[in-house]
Amino acid sequence: MYQILQAKELTTNIFMMVVEAKRVAKSCEPGQFVIVRRDADSERIPLTICDYDREAGTITIVFQIVGAGTLEMSTLKAGDAFHDVVGPLGRPSELVEEDMETLSRKKILFVAGGVGTAPVYPQVKWLHEHGIAADVIVGAKTKDLLILEEEMKSVAGNLYVTTDDGSYGRSGMVTQTIQDLVEKEGKAYDVCIAIGPMIMMKFTCKMTESLNIPTVVSLNPIMVDGTGMCGACRVTVGGEVKFACVDGPEFDGHKVNFDEAMKRQQIYKTEEGRAFLKAKE
Ligand code: FES
Repeated sequence: MYQILQAKELTTNIFMMVVEAKRVAKSCEPGQFVIVRRDADSERIPLTICDYDREAGTITIVFQIVGAGTLEMSTLKAGDAFHDVVGPLGRPSELVEEDMETLSRKKILFVAGGVGTAPVYPQVKWLHEHGIAADVIVGAKTKDLLILEEEMKSVAGNLYVTTDDGSYGRSGMVTQTIQDLVEKEGKAYDVCIAIGPMIMMKFTCKMTESLNIPTVVSLNPIMVDGTGMCGACRVTVGGEVKFACVDGPEFDGHKVNFDEAMKRQQIYKTEEGRAFLKAKE
């Protein structure tokens, strides 16, 4: 069993947990994820590792209620436990694998949308710990839905907060801020890493493609086994079939077939939605 040491609601329907998972904490790298199950017969939920403490043997996960499984998870408190926490899964972020000299010369822009702020945070923190200051755009629908702002501020070179309704920070979508930073504020970036809702990543990629900024996205499709065997997490990248759990979760954003990925996600949402309603009966 994997004990939950801390559990709190960050904002409406978004929760953070610190979980004891010694082996995962010992070897995980930014960009990797785990699959958790509440009980032996519970739904498997893939979650990116938001933070880790190798000495304490803990990982931090952040999730949003999107269906029955995450609704069940949200009721857990400190002292409860997960039946399993499998990981670390997936490939570490490309940044972590680059040589430091090349990396330190790069101008890096992160774009985080909603709960996608959680997987962006460990990457920015890792860069900060290696003396590299990255620019970060964090977008949310409204001020109330912003998460990890203070944490991000402490590790980002520059933090730009945007809200769709203009209730805080810059007003509008993250794509507008990307364009403003490059075209009005004279910023130049060698790479952009975008993580958030599929639709946000799609339009971020369209924008960065027009600005000639290579872009990496982190996909979080339906996952079942997390080992490349079941095919649930299939995505098409550059016309080739890839499995997000073993080939990703990061991919070249300019090559991802987002429309197909969103269609597959929609099917899942429908099934998840039914389970969600059933759980609420
Ligand atoms: Fe089964 Fe990726 S989750 S192949």
